[in-house]
Amino acid sequence: MARVALVTGGTRGIGEAISKALKAEGYNVAATYAGNDEKAAAFTKETGIKTYKWNVADYAESKAGIEKVEAEIGPIDIVVANAGITRDAPFHKMSPDQWKEVIDTNLTGVFNTVHPVWPGMRERKFGRVIVISSINGQKGQFGQVNYAATKAGDLGIVKSLAQEGARAGITANAVCPGYIGTEMVRAIPEEVLNSKIIPQIPAGRLGEPEEIARCVAFLASDDSGFINGSTISANGAQFFV
Ligand SMILES: NC(=O)c1ccc[n+]([C@@H]2O[C@H](COP(=O)([O-])OP(=O)(O)OC[C@H]3O[C@@H](n4cnc5c(N)ncnc54)[C@H](OP(=O)(O)O)[C@@H]3O)[C@@H](O)[C@H]2O)c1
Repeated sequence: MARVALVTGGTRGIGEAISKALKAEGYNVAATYAGNDEKAAAFTKETGIKTYKWNVADYAESKAGIEKVEAEIGPIDIVVANAGITRDAPFHKMSPDQWKEVIDTNLTGVFNTVHPVWPGMRERKFGRVIVISSINGQKGQFGQVNYAATKAGDLGIVKSLAQEGARAGITANAVCPGYIGTEMVRAIPEEVLNSKIIPQIPAGRLGEPEEIARCVAFLASDDSGFINGSTISANGAQFFV
C-alpha cells in the first residue's frame, strides 16, 4: 500500500508544491492549512488531495487533526512540518506578541506536528520527518530575531530526533530554502526584493517552490534511510554552512 504523507501548510506556496510532488511520487497525501478555505478548496479541486484545517500552534488541535487524518487515510509514514509565518520587526521594535506568535507557530508547531505521529512511526519501524527550516535560521537576518530563532531551532530538533529515531527506522532532516517566490516573499516590497535581496543571490533569481519540493521528495523516499539529521540547503549559492 502507498505510504501516507502529511504536509502542514500544504495548500499554498512551498507546501503546495511539496503536496503535489509527493502525490506525483505515489504517496497518499493529506495537506493542512490554517484558515484560507478558498485556497484550500481550489487546491483540492485541482489536485484531488484532501485538506484538513487546524492551527499547528495548538497541540490539542494538531493531535485531534492527525487522528482524523490517520482514521481517514491511514497511519502517517511521512510528516512534512512546513507551516510557518513571519512577523518581522527590528529587535528594538519587536513586540512580545510578535515573538510569541512566531515561536508558537514555527517552533512549537513542529513539536505539535511531529509528536503525535512519532509513537506510530516507532511502532511500525519506519518514518520520515522533514522540517522546512530557512536560510535565515542558518545565517540570521535583520528584522527576524523571532523567525531566525525558530528556524535555527528546527535544525536542533532534527539533529536530536535523528539520534532518537535511527534505531526505529525513522529519519529526521531539514530543508533550508533560500528566497523562494511564494506569497511570503512576494509580500516584501518589490523595490526591496530587486535592490536588496536578489543581488545577494548568485543565481540571480528567487527559487521555485518545486525546487524545494524535489528536496523533500528525495528525503521522503524509502531509499533515503541513511540520510539522517542532515540539512539540505537550496538557496542559489547565497549562503554556505
Ligand atoms: N518563501 C520563502 O522564501 C521561504 C524561505 C525559507 C523558508 N520558508 C519556509 O517555508 C515554509 C512555507 O513558506 P511559504 O512561503 O510557502 O508560506 P505561505 O505561502 O505563506 O504558506 C503558508 C502555509 O502555512 C499555513 N499556515 C500558516 N500558519 C499556520 C498555522 N498556524 N497552522 C496551520 N497552518 C498554517 C498556511 O495556511 P493558510 O493558507 O490557511 O493561511 C499556508 O498553507 C515556512 O515554514 C517558511 O518559513 C519559506
